[in-house]
Amino acid sequence: MSALLETRGVWQRFGGLVANSDVSISVGRGEIVGLIGPNGAGKSTLFNLIAGVLPPTQGSIWFDGEDVTRMPAAMRCRRGIGRTFQVVKSFETMTVIDNVIVGALVRTTVMREARRKAHEVLEFTGLAARADVLASDLVPAEKRRLEVARALATEPKLLLLDEVLTGLTPTEAQTGVALVRKVRDAGITVLMVEHVMEIVMPLVDRAIVLDLGKVLVEGKPADVVRDPKVIKAYLGDRHAVGA
Ligand SMILES: Nc1ncnc2c1ncn2[C@@H]1O[C@H](COP(=O)(O)OP(=O)(O)OP(=O)(O)O)[C@@H](O)[C@H]1O
Ligand SMILES: [Mg+2]
Repeated sequence: MSALLETRGVWQRFGGLVANSDVSISVGRGEIVGLIGPNGAGKSTLFNLIAGVLPPTQGSIWFDGEDVTRMPAAMRCRRGIGRTFQVVKSFETMTVIDNVIVGALVRTTVMREARRKAHEVLEFTGLAARADVLASDLVPAEKRRLEVARALATEPKLLLLDEVLTGLTPTEAQTGVALVRKVRDAGITVLMVEHVMEIVMPLVDRAIVLDLGKVLVEGKPADVVRDPKVIKAYLGDRHAVGA
């Protein structure tokens, strides 16, 4: 079967800056794929191109057998691309359940049905006890979870997670890892950006490393972490003598 997601020769330029440079990646159905790379490598930009926030300068994006390159973000969401934002985007003055209902309304216009779906997602994400709390009153780990819950309420086939495990305590991060596994077990494909290698590498089936906007290496996590090119990119010594 064809990949669920494919980017083909995708470029994104911001004026003179090349944020994505000829990026071709694919994500198979049921996979958890990690997208890693140093700060400014172009990871969030690639998410924005996949989700339809920005049109790529060049190249195409294929989702579920269809060219979605020119499709607006809301329509891609209905096709099954769900995402979280690196900077949490919840509605702070709304309750947790209402935030998730906003996601659920992508699939239904019946409020009762949206509420039922939102409750189901809050159970799934471990936020049920916080349903009636204002989003602004959540602790940071719960806010990340709420981001995931809102995206799940849209019933995605592909979930894009942008640093949802970043800045968490080790215990919170492990709870997050368990949630990502549960999402995949529910049949949802995951593409996730994460910095903390110790957390992300045991979780993913495959890792793709972006550096300076380009795909540097991709492969099995164990091979990727040992790759000298990856070590060099992370240590930032590409300008060192002899490098
Ligand atoms: N809307 C924009 N306008 C101009 N430049 C941008 C824009 N969005 C991103 N960039 C630039 O593109 C490059 C890639 O940014 P991006 O946010 O995609 O990196 P990232 O890999 O997600 O980094 P981080 O790990 O810090 O989140 C950076 O140099 C950034 O400053
Ligand atoms: Mg980013």
